[in-house]
Amino acid sequence: MRTPLKLTKSFESHFQLQLEGFLRDQGALPEDESLDSKRFLSRSIIPHIRRLSDLFNRLDSPEHAHTPEAGKNVGLDQYWQKGSNPQNLRLAYMTNFMPTNAFRVASIVQELSRRGFFQSKAAERFHTEDKIRVLELGAGPGSGSCGVALGLSSALDSSNTQTKKPLIEWTLVEQSKSLLDWGENWLERYASSLGFTQSTVKGFCKKIDPTKPFLPKEARRFDVIVSSFFLNELAGTPEILAKRINELVTHHLTDNGIFILCEPALMQQSRRLLEIRQLWIENHSKQAKSQVLLPCLGHQACGSLTLKDDWCHEEVSWWRPPYLRIIDQLTGFDRKTLDFSYLVFIRSPNQIGEILTGLTGTSEKRFRYISPVKSAGPDYEGFICGQSGKSNCRIKKSLFETSTDAKAATIEAAQILEAMPKKNETEQAPEEDAPFFKKDTRPTPERGDLLEEVELRGDPACKRASR
Ligand SMILES: C[S@@+](CC[C@H](N)C(=O)[O-])C[C@H]1O[C@@H](n2cnc3c(N)ncnc32)[C@H](O)[C@@H]1O
Repeated sequence: MRTPLKLTKSFESHFQLQLEGFLRDQGALPEDESLDSKRFLSRSIIPHIRRLSDLFNRLDSPEHAHTPEAGKNVGLDQYWQKGSNPQNLRLAYMTNFMPTNAFRVASIVQELSRRGFFQSKAAERFHTEDKIRVLELGAGPGSGSCGVALGLSSALDSSNTQTKKPLIEWTLVEQSKSLLDWGENWLERYASSLGFTQSTVKGFCKKIDPTKPFLPKEARRFDVIVSSFFLNELAGTPEILAKRINELVTHHLTDNGIFILCEPALMQQSRRLLEIRQLWIENHSKQAKSQVLLPCLGHQACGSLTLKDDWCHEEVSWWRPPYLRIIDQLTGFDRKTLDFSYLVFIRSPNQIGEILTGLTGTSEKRFRYISPVKSAGPDYEGFICGQSGKSNCRIKKSLFETSTDAKAATIEAAQILEAMPKKNETEQAPEEDAPFFKKDTRPTPERGDLLEEVELRGDPACKRASR
């Protein structure tokens, strides 16, 4: 998925300073320590990151996914309280998982922007100073909300239609009181630093029971609901979760409200999300007057569910916060790119072209890259997905270059080259974090790019797209 240069650089040194200030105020980072200190990171943060990563990976084991027992046997209920140093566990989450998940969600909002959502009538409310209401479920420290704030800020700044940002009322629902307290404080500061001043944050400490509706039916409607890395922690079959999602879409989204679901890219959890999409479409979409907008751009059968061990995920590149680069060096983790699976619902019965005004042509002739794309002589080759499912596909390079995404990428590449830092600046932010430092401005297709107004012909093992 492509993201603009400015967005990819949102977590540089200024972000680190802001986060350090917050953590000192919470008493979680000693006055004489910084997040650049290898000694402090090794002692106080890295052991807890390993613990959390192990826990999240265990959730992807086949025994835990797809069953009503999912999430039950891994101590998730108490993991914020457990262990010898719960504050450092929170610190590990805040420094490692909050920024990464925030960037993932911001990229999803950016994808809405790239597809022309913020130019549509459906998004009018974001261009006024009226109050926007955002709900995050399983909020942790508010990472998903931070992602909404960042993505929205980036989209509104680039649309140039206003100077003042809307007022936002944030609502966070989270089972851990201590993490929620951090979330309320941090989100207010972070959103305010992006220009969403005078916003309010309300936290609700609540343990959501997946066998019941997540919110009381009389609870209010929201303009945006976000759930980031939360469903994977909930017990429940895809059928039950599709029902829960339908209740939220039907009773708790305003007209044209959007619901963003961001989940891990791991196979079991990604497939669970794809199954939820499929079941929602089959069982609920007709009565709901709503639709799944992204990533699939339609309600066609999922191309990845036809095979038993296939799945679908996205990938984004960013400049890691400086301390995260050090942690990656010390641990061997590699977070230069971040992957995830996602869905975006909208409560609107309108045609997709009216909502995503950047789309051209018909849905039958529209395909999305869902894998890395390789150069093969005069062609590009990669997996695409569309109304008729998933297939390997070749396309003439020159044909891709006339696509809307390629044209936008060419303009952006030229701007990036112009803004390229001098050598001494690159030493602070190593080139490895800057995939856009490519000298070559010729756009190559990326996962998430679209081929529009093309037809597929030929061999099922490798089709050819042409006009
Ligand atoms: C992996 S964290 C994700 C936090 C945040 N949304 C993010 O993207 O970083 C999952 C969060 O969901 C919370 N959670 C898990 N099960 C919950 C439940 N049944 N009710 C409320 N919160 C829950 C956990 O306490 C945890 O903070």
